[in-house]
Amino acid sequence: MHYHVLTLFPEMITGGLGTSIIGRAMEQGIIELTATNIRDYSTNKHMKVDDYPYGGGAGMVMQAEPVYGAYCDVVKKIGYKPRVIYLTPQGKVFNQSMVEELAKEKDLVFLCGHYEGIDERVLEEIVTDYVSIGDYVLTGGELPSMVMIDAISRFVPGVLSNEESAQFESFQDNLLEYPQYSRPAEWMGKRVPEVLLSGHHANIEKWRREQSIQRTLERRPELLENAVLSKKEKNYLEKLKKEKYSHEC
Ligand code: ADE
Repeated sequence: MHYHVLTLFPEMITGGLGTSIIGRAMEQGIIELTATNIRDYSTNKHMKVDDYPYGGGAGMVMQAEPVYGAYCDVVKKIGYKPRVIYLTPQGKVFNQSMVEELAKEKDLVFLCGHYEGIDERVLEEIVTDYVSIGDYVLTGGELPSMVMIDAISRFVPGVLSNEESAQFESFQDNLLEYPQYSRPAEWMGKRVPEVLLSGHHANIEKWRREQSIQRTLERRPELLENAVLSKKEKNYLEKLKKEKYSHEC
Protein backbone atom coordinates (compact mmCIF):
# COMPACT_ATOMS: atom_id res chain seq x y z
CA MET A 1 0.00 0.00 0.00
CA HIS A 2 1.31 3.43 -0.92
CA TYR A 3 -0.31 6.45 0.76
CA HIS A 4 0.12 9.83 -0.93
CA VAL A 5 -0.87 12.72 1.33
CA LEU A 6 -1.31 16.14 -0.26
CA THR A 7 -1.00 18.74 2.50
CA LEU A 8 0.38 22.12 3.52
CA PHE A 9 1.95 20.45 6.59
CA PRO A 10 3.88 17.35 5.45
CA GLU A 11 5.94 17.18 8.69
CA MET A 12 2.75 16.68 10.66
CA ILE A 13 2.00 13.53 8.64
CA THR A 14 5.50 12.02 8.60
CA GLY A 15 6.05 12.91 12.28
CA GLY A 16 2.70 11.52 13.37
CA LEU A 17 2.93 8.21 11.52
CA GLY A 18 6.65 7.47 11.76
CA THR A 19 6.59 5.50 15.03
CA SER A 20 5.02 2.37 16.53
CA ILE A 21 3.31 -0.22 14.33
CA ILE A 22 2.90 2.03 11.28
CA GLY A 23 6.54 3.18 11.51
CA ARG A 24 7.66 -0.45 11.71
CA ALA A 25 5.56 -1.35 8.62
CA MET A 26 7.21 1.50 6.71
CA GLU A 27 10.69 0.32 7.72
CA GLN A 28 9.76 -3.17 6.52
CA GLY A 29 8.54 -1.73 3.20
CA ILE A 30 5.01 -3.11 3.67
CA ILE A 31 3.53 0.36 3.44
CA GLU A 32 4.90 3.50 1.87
CA LEU A 33 4.01 7.06 2.82
CA THR A 34 4.70 10.13 0.69
CA ALA A 35 3.64 13.48 2.14
CA THR A 36 3.67 16.13 -0.59
CA ASN A 37 3.67 19.84 0.18
CA ILE A 38 0.98 21.47 -1.95
CA ARG A 39 2.91 24.72 -1.63
CA ASP A 40 5.66 23.24 -3.83
CA TYR A 41 3.12 23.38 -6.69
CA SER A 42 2.25 27.04 -6.25
CA THR A 43 2.39 28.96 -9.52
CA ASN A 44 2.75 32.23 -7.65
CA LYS A 45 6.13 33.92 -7.14
CA HIS A 46 5.43 34.27 -3.40
CA MET A 47 4.47 30.57 -3.21
CA LYS A 48 0.93 31.54 -2.20
CA VAL A 49 -1.67 28.75 -2.30
CA ASP A 50 -4.80 30.56 -1.10
CA ASP A 51 -6.90 33.58 -2.05
CA TYR A 52 -10.11 35.41 -1.10
CA PRO A 53 -13.42 33.69 -1.80
CA TYR A 54 -15.40 34.98 -4.78
CA GLY A 55 -18.63 36.48 -3.49
CA GLY A 56 -16.99 37.58 -0.24
CA GLY A 57 -17.09 36.03 3.20
CA ALA A 58 -14.63 35.14 5.94
CA GLY A 59 -11.36 33.29 5.46
CA MET A 60 -9.30 32.16 2.51
CA VAL A 61 -9.84 29.39 -0.02
CA MET A 62 -7.11 27.01 -1.23
CA GLN A 63 -6.66 27.53 -4.95
CA ALA A 64 -7.27 24.81 -7.52
CA GLU A 65 -4.00 24.87 -9.47
CA PRO A 66 -1.45 23.87 -6.77
CA VAL A 67 -3.73 21.05 -5.60
CA TYR A 68 -4.16 19.84 -9.18
CA GLY A 69 -0.41 20.03 -9.83
CA ALA A 70 0.34 17.90 -6.76
CA TYR A 71 -2.33 15.37 -7.79
CA CYS A 72 -1.09 15.14 -11.41
CA ASP A 73 2.42 14.38 -10.18
CA VAL A 74 1.08 11.38 -8.22
CA VAL A 75 -0.86 10.14 -11.28
CA LYS A 76 2.26 10.49 -13.45
CA LYS A 77 4.38 8.57 -10.92
CA ILE A 78 2.01 5.63 -10.44
CA GLY A 79 0.62 5.52 -14.00
CA TYR A 80 -3.11 5.44 -13.22
CA LYS A 81 -5.84 7.51 -11.53
CA PRO A 82 -6.12 6.34 -7.90
CA ARG A 83 -8.92 6.92 -5.40
CA VAL A 84 -8.65 10.40 -3.92
CA ILE A 85 -10.09 10.93 -0.45
CA TYR A 86 -10.96 14.47 0.55
CA LEU A 87 -11.22 14.88 4.34
CA THR A 88 -14.22 17.01 5.19
CA PRO A 89 -16.95 17.13 7.85
CA GLN A 90 -19.36 17.03 4.85
CA GLY A 91 -18.23 13.49 3.94
CA LYS A 92 -19.51 10.01 4.70
CA VAL A 93 -18.64 9.07 8.30
CA PHE A 94 -15.64 6.72 8.40
CA ASN A 95 -16.27 3.21 9.73
CA GLN A 96 -14.74 -0.27 9.81
CA SER A 97 -16.34 -1.46 6.57
CA MET A 98 -14.76 1.52 4.74
CA VAL A 99 -11.43 0.54 6.34
CA GLU A 100 -11.65 -2.97 4.91
CA GLU A 101 -12.69 -1.75 1.46
CA LEU A 102 -9.95 0.89 1.22
CA ALA A 103 -7.25 -1.52 2.44
CA LYS A 104 -7.62 -3.40 -0.89
CA GLU A 105 -6.29 -0.45 -2.92
CA LYS A 106 -2.71 -0.28 -4.16
CA ASP A 107 -2.45 3.52 -3.81
CA LEU A 108 -4.59 6.01 -1.89
CA VAL A 109 -4.41 9.79 -2.14
CA PHE A 110 -5.50 11.87 0.87
CA LEU A 111 -6.23 15.52 0.17
CA CYS A 112 -6.02 17.72 3.27
CA GLY A 113 -7.76 21.08 3.21
CA HIS A 114 -7.21 24.12 5.40
CA TYR A 115 -8.66 27.61 5.70
CA GLU A 116 -12.24 27.78 4.45
CA GLY A 117 -11.82 24.82 2.12
CA ILE A 118 -10.59 24.12 -1.41
CA ASP A 119 -11.83 25.57 -4.72
CA GLU A 120 -14.79 23.39 -5.70
CA ARG A 121 -13.62 22.95 -9.30
CA VAL A 122 -10.55 20.91 -8.43
CA LEU A 123 -12.55 18.79 -6.00
CA GLU A 124 -15.02 17.97 -8.81
CA GLU A 125 -12.09 17.08 -11.05
CA ILE A 126 -10.11 14.72 -8.78
CA VAL A 127 -11.98 13.61 -5.64
CA THR A 128 -13.56 10.13 -5.61
CA ASP A 129 -14.50 9.90 -1.88
CA TYR A 130 -15.60 12.57 0.60
CA VAL A 131 -14.90 11.28 4.12
CA SER A 132 -15.49 12.67 7.64
CA ILE A 133 -14.07 11.11 10.80
CA GLY A 134 -16.98 12.33 12.93
CA ASP A 135 -19.47 15.10 13.50
CA TYR A 136 -17.14 17.81 14.74
CA VAL A 137 -14.97 20.33 12.91
CA LEU A 138 -11.16 20.19 12.98
CA THR A 139 -8.73 22.83 11.71
CA GLY A 140 -7.56 20.72 8.78
CA GLY A 141 -7.57 17.32 7.13
CA GLU A 142 -4.18 16.14 8.48
CA LEU A 143 -5.39 14.48 11.69
CA PRO A 144 -8.33 12.77 9.92
CA SER A 145 -6.01 11.43 7.20
CA MET A 146 -3.66 10.07 9.89
CA VAL A 147 -6.58 8.41 11.66
CA MET A 148 -7.64 6.78 8.39
CA ILE A 149 -4.11 5.66 7.48
CA ASP A 150 -3.65 4.08 10.91
CA ALA A 151 -6.95 2.18 10.72
CA ILE A 152 -6.47 1.07 7.08
CA SER A 153 -2.88 -0.08 7.67
CA ARG A 154 -4.00 -2.60 10.28
CA PHE A 155 -5.76 -4.37 7.41
CA VAL A 156 -2.80 -4.39 5.06
CA PRO A 157 -1.35 -7.94 5.11
CA GLY A 158 1.84 -8.16 7.17
CA VAL A 159 1.39 -4.91 9.10
CA LEU A 160 0.20 -6.66 12.27
CA SER A 161 2.15 -9.59 13.71
CA ASN A 162 0.24 -12.87 14.25
CA GLU A 163 -0.22 -12.05 17.90
CA GLU A 164 -1.50 -8.55 17.14
CA SER A 165 -3.98 -9.81 14.53
CA ALA A 166 -5.23 -12.61 16.77
CA GLN A 167 -6.17 -9.98 19.30
CA PHE A 168 -7.86 -7.95 16.61
CA GLU A 169 -10.03 -10.89 15.54
CA SER A 170 -12.04 -10.81 18.71
CA PHE A 171 -13.33 -7.43 17.55
CA GLN A 172 -14.58 -8.83 14.28
CA ASP A 173 -17.63 -10.47 15.83
CA ASN A 174 -18.84 -6.93 16.55
CA LEU A 175 -18.12 -7.30 20.26
CA LEU A 176 -16.00 -5.05 22.45
CA GLU A 177 -12.75 -6.35 23.91
CA TYR A 178 -12.88 -8.18 27.27
CA PRO A 179 -11.03 -6.60 30.28
CA GLN A 180 -7.29 -7.30 30.60
CA TYR A 181 -5.18 -7.73 33.74
CA SER A 182 -1.45 -8.02 34.42
CA ARG A 183 0.72 -8.48 37.51
CA PRO A 184 0.35 -8.11 40.46
CA ALA A 185 -2.58 -10.48 41.14
CA GLU A 186 -3.80 -8.03 43.78
CA TRP A 187 -3.62 -4.23 43.51
CA MET A 188 -5.23 -1.76 45.96
CA GLY A 189 -7.24 -4.65 47.39
CA LYS A 190 -8.63 -5.63 43.96
CA ARG A 191 -8.01 -9.24 42.90
CA VAL A 192 -7.63 -10.37 39.31
CA PRO A 193 -10.64 -12.63 38.48
CA GLU A 194 -9.73 -16.13 39.73
CA VAL A 195 -10.55 -17.84 36.43
CA LEU A 196 -7.62 -16.02 34.77
CA LEU A 197 -5.21 -17.52 37.30
CA SER A 198 -6.63 -21.04 36.91
CA GLY A 199 -4.73 -22.01 33.76
CA HIS A 200 -7.98 -23.61 32.46
CA HIS A 201 -8.01 -22.37 28.86
CA ALA A 202 -11.58 -23.34 27.96
CA ASN A 203 -12.97 -21.63 31.07
CA ILE A 204 -10.86 -18.54 30.41
CA GLU A 205 -12.11 -18.39 26.80
CA LYS A 206 -15.75 -18.74 27.94
CA TRP A 207 -15.30 -16.05 30.63
CA ARG A 208 -13.73 -13.65 28.14
CA ARG A 209 -16.52 -14.11 25.59
CA GLU A 210 -19.10 -13.49 28.31
CA GLN A 211 -17.27 -10.36 29.47
CA SER A 212 -17.21 -9.11 25.88
CA ILE A 213 -20.95 -9.66 25.52
CA GLN A 214 -21.68 -8.01 28.87
CA ARG A 215 -19.46 -5.03 28.08
CA THR A 216 -20.99 -4.57 24.64
CA LEU A 217 -24.48 -4.64 26.15
CA GLU A 218 -23.49 -2.00 28.71
CA ARG A 219 -21.42 0.32 26.52
CA ARG A 220 -22.41 -0.14 22.86
CA PRO A 221 -25.68 -2.13 22.78
CA GLU A 222 -26.31 -1.15 19.14
CA LEU A 223 -23.33 -3.31 18.09
CA LEU A 224 -25.11 -6.46 19.31
CA GLU A 225 -27.49 -6.34 16.35
CA ASN A 226 -24.66 -7.57 14.11
CA ALA A 227 -22.71 -9.58 16.70
CA VAL A 228 -21.72 -13.14 15.81
CA LEU A 229 -22.84 -15.32 18.75
CA SER A 230 -23.25 -19.05 19.33
CA LYS A 231 -26.60 -20.40 20.53
CA LYS A 232 -25.28 -20.57 24.11
CA GLU A 233 -23.98 -17.01 23.90
CA LYS A 234 -27.34 -15.79 22.60
CA ASN A 235 -29.00 -17.37 25.63
CA TYR A 236 -26.41 -15.71 27.86
CA LEU A 237 -27.21 -12.34 26.28
CA GLU A 238 -30.94 -12.84 26.78
CA LYS A 239 -30.29 -13.65 30.45
CA LEU A 240 -28.21 -10.47 30.85
CA LYS A 241 -30.90 -8.35 29.21
CA LYS A 242 -33.58 -9.75 31.53
CA GLU A 243 -31.40 -9.01 34.57
CA LYS A 244 -30.69 -5.51 33.29
CA TYR A 245 -34.35 -4.65 32.78
CA SER A 246 -35.45 -6.21 36.07
CA HIS A 247 -33.12 -3.76 37.86
CA GLU A 248 -34.51 -0.71 36.12
CA CYS A 249 -37.62 0.92 37.54
N1 ADE B 1 -11.78 18.43 8.40
C1 ADE B 1 -12.24 19.17 9.40
N2 ADE B 1 -13.01 18.46 10.22
C2 ADE B 1 -13.05 17.19 9.72
C3 ADE B 1 -13.67 15.99 10.13
N3 ADE B 1 -14.45 15.93 11.20
N4 ADE B 1 -13.48 14.89 9.37
C4 ADE B 1 -12.70 14.96 8.28
N5 ADE B 1 -12.10 16.06 7.85
C5 ADE B 1 -12.26 17.18 8.56
